[in-house]
Amino acid sequence: MVNKIRSCVFISGNGSNLKSIIKSSRDYNFPIKIELIITNNKKAKGLNFAKKYNIPFKVFSYDNRKNFERNSLNEIKKRKIRFLCLAGFMKILSKNFIKDFGYQIINIHPSLLPKFKGLNTHKRVLKSKEKYSGCTVHYVSPVLDSGKIILQKKVLINKNETENSLRKKILLQEHKIYPKSIISIFK
Ligand code: GRF
Repeated sequence: MVNKIRSCVFISGNGSNLKSIIKSSRDYNFPIKIELIITNNKKAKGLNFAKKYNIPFKVFSYDNRKNFERNSLNEIKKRKIRFLCLAGFMKILSKNFIKDFGYQIINIHPSLLPKFKGLNTHKRVLKSKEKYSGCTVHYVSPVLDSGKIILQKKVLINKNETENSLRKKILLQEHKIYPKSIISIFK
C-alpha cells in the first residue's frame, strides 16, 4: 500500500498493544503507518519499541492537561497525522482535543464494553462473578469508554481465574483485535 495513513499512538505503560500495531503496520497492505508515539510517562516501557523500530517519540508531562494536549497537537499537526490510536494511554483527552485533532481516534479497553468502563477492570469483573470478559476497540468520544464499538472479543473466565491470569488472557486477544479493527476501519 503506497499511501498509508500517517498515524500516532499514545501510550503510558508497557506498550504491548503498541508493539502489535507496529508489527502489523509493517505489512505492505496494512492501512496505517506509525509516524509518531507520544507518552505522558518518560519511564513507559513501551518507548523501547519506539527506539527499536526507529519511530519518533515525544514525552510530554501531564502535570497540566492543557500543556500536554497543546504540545501533542503541535507535534501531530507538524507531522500531518490523520489517525490516532490510544494504547494503554491512562489519561482522558478533553473534548477540545478531540475536536481540534479533527480525525478519528480509537482506544482499546480490557472489558466487554459497555460493561466495566474505567480503571481496575479485571478486579471488578472477578468480583462481580462474570462468566465472560474480553476486550473492546472503540472510537474515542468525549465520554470515557463510551464511543462507538468497532470490535470485541469475548473470553471465558475460568473457575480459578486471577486478576493476573485474566489480564494476560485478555491482552493476547487485544493484540489481535487492535490491528484487525484498524484494518476494518479503512476497508
Ligand atoms: C491494556 O489492557 C489496554 O486495554 C488498557 O491498558 C492496557 C495496556 O497494555 N487500556 P499495554 O501497555 O498495551 O501493554
